[in-house]
Amino acid sequence: MIILGIESTCDETGVAVVENGTKVLSNNIASSIAMQKKYRGVVPEVAAREQVRAIIPLIADCLSKVQLSNVDAVAVSYGPGLIGSLLVGVETAKTLSLVYKKPLIAVNHLEGHFYSSLLESDRSFVLPAVGLIVSGGHTDLVYVERHGHCELLGSTLDDAAGEAFDKVARFLKLEYPGGPQIEKHASEYNQHLGHPGGDPLFPRPMIGDDNFDFSFSGLKTSVINFVQKNHLSLTKNNVQKVSYYFQKAAVDVLVSKTIKAAKKMYARSLVIGGGVAANKYLLQELEKSSRENFKFYRPLKKYAVDNGAMIAAAAFYKNNFVDPLTLTADASLHF
Ligand code: KG4
Ligand code: ZN
Repeated sequence: MIILGIESTCDETGVAVVENGTKVLSNNIASSIAMQKKYRGVVPEVAAREQVRAIIPLIADCLSKVQLSNVDAVAVSYGPGLIGSLLVGVETAKTLSLVYKKPLIAVNHLEGHFYSSLLESDRSFVLPAVGLIVSGGHTDLVYVERHGHCELLGSTLDDAAGEAFDKVARFLKLEYPGGPQIEKHASEYNQHLGHPGGDPLFPRPMIGDDNFDFSFSGLKTSVINFVQKNHLSLTKNNVQKVSYYFQKAAVDVLVSKTIKAAKKMYARSLVIGGGVAANKYLLQELEKSSRENFKFYRPLKKYAVDNGAMIAAAAFYKNNFVDPLTLTADASLHF
């Protein structure tokens, strides 16, 4: 089955054509990130305007590589996300579906991240699986017993993991998006000092709680307090040190709670997705901890961030056709 997937929930516009949930025939992404850098975050209006500009040329380019007559269905992420951005993708997908008489599949953006690790892979999940979806807007633990049915086990109560990386980076006067910058500085510190241990510096919020929720806002505040109380100037060395200990604290919590959930649910696979899944330290720690008990699935870096291919992959497994006349974007879509 060949599916054209459309993604426009935040600042990226992604259009891709994927065969049977894994073989990527064409994949186009446009991002307004360069424009958003000066605001150090996403301005919804700017994102949506750029998406209106980008989406048709991206579709045309995909369809110059794969003939429309070979496309079996159109899929779109209809939430959660920024409403202006979502409308661009959803209304475009509905129009394509109606005009070209292709069935329409509606996908939850988070399910897209869950299935992203199957892209360009020759494996499928051994179910049941527990998934950690970590992005700029979400930190969710999900349980998937059978394809197309995601159950939420826990979420962040305040900031998402990626948001915490972005906010700490902003405080440290690093570029947006902050995640890659924090990772870079943390790894430089690690290289200088060779796995420094010592005082953990920052707390691991909710790590021992008997639930699968997260909280990253207090961690961010403790980073700010630490820098201010110790009158640290933002020298390269101090930024590297703070990045290192912040990343370690955030990753400790993510890994510990994910493994706890996978054990409790008797999962056979552990799956990671979302922009923060581009973080090598998180991947390495999660893979290490899952080695004995679970099969570990992670997306290629290019599919960790928002893209249309992951929406087409999720659609292949989800298979829930919707009426193009009635589908509406849902900014706060739940599972
Ligand atoms: O999934 P995504 O592209 O968009 C959302 O749906 O939010 O995720 C973007 C987030 C940003 O917060 C960014 O800082 C974070 O993913 N991120 C990272 C890394 N690369 C991207 N966080 C930590 N380490 C990274 N290497
Ligand atoms: Zn995302």
